[in-house]
Amino acid sequence: MTTAYTQLHERKRTWTPVQVSAGNLLPGGEEVIQRALSLRILEIPVGNFITDAMKGDLPNEIGCKELLLSNIDDEINHDLALNYAAAVHPVPEKIQAEASKIAKTWIGFDAHPVLKAAILERSVFFVLLPIFFTFAATSFVIM
Ligand SMILES: [Fe+2]
Repeated sequence: MTTAYTQLHERKRTWTPVQVSAGNLLPGGEEVIQRALSLRILEIPVGNFITDAMKGDLPNEIGCKELLLSNIDDEINHDLALNYAAAVHPVPEKIQAEASKIAKTWIGFDAHPVLKAAILERSVFFVLLPIFFTFAATSFVIM
């Protein structure tokens, strides 16, 4: 049986993060990439928020649980891919420390875990993707 959840799941493409080599960043955009990469520490928390949400009531529809589990796996891959990128484009400690404060604040924010995950995906990671394409297109963008 097809549901909205199974349809979303079937539309996903499989990909495997791979190590990358350092390439050229768009001149002047180096700090933008460093700050974008620093926020990779929020990838695993997105998966954790989804895990937390799964402890509550889920829609009783075919494919819902499987889609959410798949989303958690996606976050692990996102984390791995961005860690590969950060390995060749290191993030200064000061910038990483700022991102850690952001992560700590967001993790502790008192809101429903689905809301916290959705806001991170839509307001942070969906925004970062075009930034990576723009400033690091010839470097490490593999997503
Ligand atoms: Fe992600």
